[in-house]
Amino acid sequence: MSTVTSTHYDELIELARPRLDDFQRMKAAGLVCKSGDFYPSVHYPPITMYPRCTEEELFRTYTLPRDGMFDVYIHLPFCHHHCIFCHYPVKLGPQLEEKERYLKALEKEMDLYMRRLGVSKIKPRSILVGGGTPTYLTIKQLEHFLKFFTSRMDMAGIKQFNYDVDPTTLVGPEGLDRLRLMRDYGVDRLTIGVQSLNDSILRKMNRDHNAATAIESIRNCQEFGYQVNIEFIFGYPSQTIKNWIDLMQKAVTLGVEEIQLYRLKVEAYGDYQGTIKKYKQIRPQDVPCPDDSLLMKQLAIIILNQNGYTENLRRVFSRQKKHFSVYAHNQCCNLQDEIGIGLTAFSSLRDRFGLNTQSFEEYYQAIDEDRLPLNRGLVRSQDEQTRWGIILPIKNRDIRKRLYQRVTGASLDKVFRTKIQNLKSFGLVEEDANSLGVTTLGAFFADEVAQQFQSARYMAYPQEAYENGPLNPFLNNDPDA
Ligand SMILES: C[S@@+](CC[C@H](N)C(=O)[O-])C[C@H]1O[C@@H](n2cnc3c(N)ncnc32)[C@H](O)[C@@H]1O
Ligand code: SF4
Repeated sequence: MSTVTSTHYDELIELARPRLDDFQRMKAAGLVCKSGDFYPSVHYPPITMYPRCTEEELFRTYTLPRDGMFDVYIHLPFCHHHCIFCHYPVKLGPQLEEKERYLKALEKEMDLYMRRLGVSKIKPRSILVGGGTPTYLTIKQLEHFLKFFTSRMDMAGIKQFNYDVDPTTLVGPEGLDRLRLMRDYGVDRLTIGVQSLNDSILRKMNRDHNAATAIESIRNCQEFGYQVNIEFIFGYPSQTIKNWIDLMQKAVTLGVEEIQLYRLKVEAYGDYQGTIKKYKQIRPQDVPCPDDSLLMKQLAIIILNQNGYTENLRRVFSRQKKHFSVYAHNQCCNLQDEIGIGLTAFSSLRDRFGLNTQSFEEYYQAIDEDRLPLNRGLVRSQDEQTRWGIILPIKNRDIRKRLYQRVTGASLDKVFRTKIQNLKSFGLVEEDANSLGVTTLGAFFADEVAQQFQSARYMAYPQEAYENGPLNPFLNNDPDA
């Protein structure tokens, strides 16, 4: 695959290496934990830490957004086989009857949700169909799903219809039929889980595709005119600095609109622990150390930038500003209401968050009993809302002060001033009269910058996991400090 000369490798590594000095500096200041490990800031409070909650408790005081619109997520938890790194509960293999059962339950869940909201159709701003592998359905099942799903949507105001896909279901005659069908139903953006373009690493991930299939699937999506986002994992066992450089150099030649990067997460951040933890215990020597993982991240940023891709939403690089996930942007930067349907799906509704069960049996039982399959959630307190309003937007782009005031009732000019001042003095955030956002350095450590604003009770690591420097997340942790 490589066209990179050894001098070119060395030059790239030299360009990237200063980030490792930043990493040491951030550890000494207490921003990053001493082990160098990380915890992704995805929701606040973090997803596994929600208490039990009933549908009645969650919706009791909820009122519809003024424009009556939502971003909509729907989850299909079926895959060919289980990837070593994956922390999602999925059912494996064809499972034709199980899929029929699940689709029937999804259809009913949509009706229960609409009844709960008191609407006859859902008005989506954007849609994301995710999984699992939501394209791992027969053509007939896929069409049935798209039909019942879109018949419950008022599509007049929709800005983007996304689908998460995997390469295998998009190649060959059936793959082309799927792509045609999804296009017919209005799908216009696809996120393809490519993960690697190195066959030996793809085998180690237990992916069911090789690099050639991934590239063929990208071409097929492009021919149908989809906006294409491809995802990669770095820090994976057997990845080396050189084979990662090769991969990124190849990725930028594929002509996709967006490239998304994930650092390998070994510990689960939901209820289900993937096989990767056991793999690391058995073969720790295969797993890149934190320094190498972060060097890979900086190398990717350099190669992407050199080829015209800049970070648009966090971790997602595009050549044009208009290419991003409207779904992610609405939820994380605009803090707009979102409905989640299906196993493990979550709903983010103004000042509250509800999480569906992760157990298939509990899911079917709730639907049979005419209940939404929600089992955890929280109506946020004022303190939690004040933190949530910072954490999501600062992790993903920036915070607009007027929006912050509207969703939290508090002024960003008056909360967390000591923390914000400290972050500024380390060059991690910048602020003007209208917004607060991360700098290039802050973007590199965006999970940790966002975690500065979590309350002590929701931190992933204890206080002593961090150096006692000015950025230890447990210090100045009160919004009034
Ligand atoms: C919600 S997952 C679904 C992916 C999709 N089913 C697929 O495999 O193509 C979205 C992305 O998260 C990333 N991801 C999943 N598990 C991860 C882990 N343990 N560490 C880092 N990234 C992960 C992968 O890049 C994946 O494509
Ligand atoms: S990573 Fe994607 S394809 Fe692999 S098991 Fe998880 S959900 Fe399925």
